Amino acid sequence: QAASIPADRVPDMEKRKLMNLLLLGAIGLPTAGMLLPYTYFFVPPGSGGSGGGTPAKDALGNDIVATEWLKTHGPGDRTLAQGLKGDPTYLVVENDKTLATYGINAVCTHLGCVVPWNKAENKFMCPCHGSQYNNQGKVIRGPAPLSLALAHADIDDGKVVFVPWVETDFRTGEAPWWS
Ligand code: FES
Repeated sequence: QAASIPADRVPDMEKRKLMNLLLLGAIGLPTAGMLLPYTYFFVPPGSGGSGGGTPAKDALGNDIVATEWLKTHGPGDRTLAQGLKGDPTYLVVENDKTLATYGINAVCTHLGCVVPWNKAENKFMCPCHGSQYNNQGKVIRGPAPLSLALAHADIDDGKVVFVPWVETDFRTGEAPWWS
């Protein structure tokens, strides 16, 4: 290896240094690029709040205020918000007009299409390969192998915040596959 050769025995040292620098640069850049997403992963941008959750954002990118949301979203409503790690996540309005304490990650567990809510069928139905999920996101028809991921939808200071769901999946009674 070039690095183990003592400097005084190497002719043309400056050229070699330059080569090493170029090599370092070539390796260093992609490494830095790979580190960045990890940094974001461990320190979510929205984690500075008092509750430690990630604020849910509406389609316009604004924080979602629970009372405002409930004025325009009635019982049974499932509308997408921006969730953890930017994943599209459904906010659920329960039949008693309260916000459900869970959000449903809309990313299909088959190949990742965003799954639309079909109100008439009372199911989430994936347009890509026909997977279906019940109104809580539990898989009821393949090819999707797993239910849609959950996130806690908490209310902090009036705003909806998503918090990672690490507990048992209440729909299946199993450990969450996504955490
Ligand atoms: Fe949803 Fe294939 S991506 S069924």
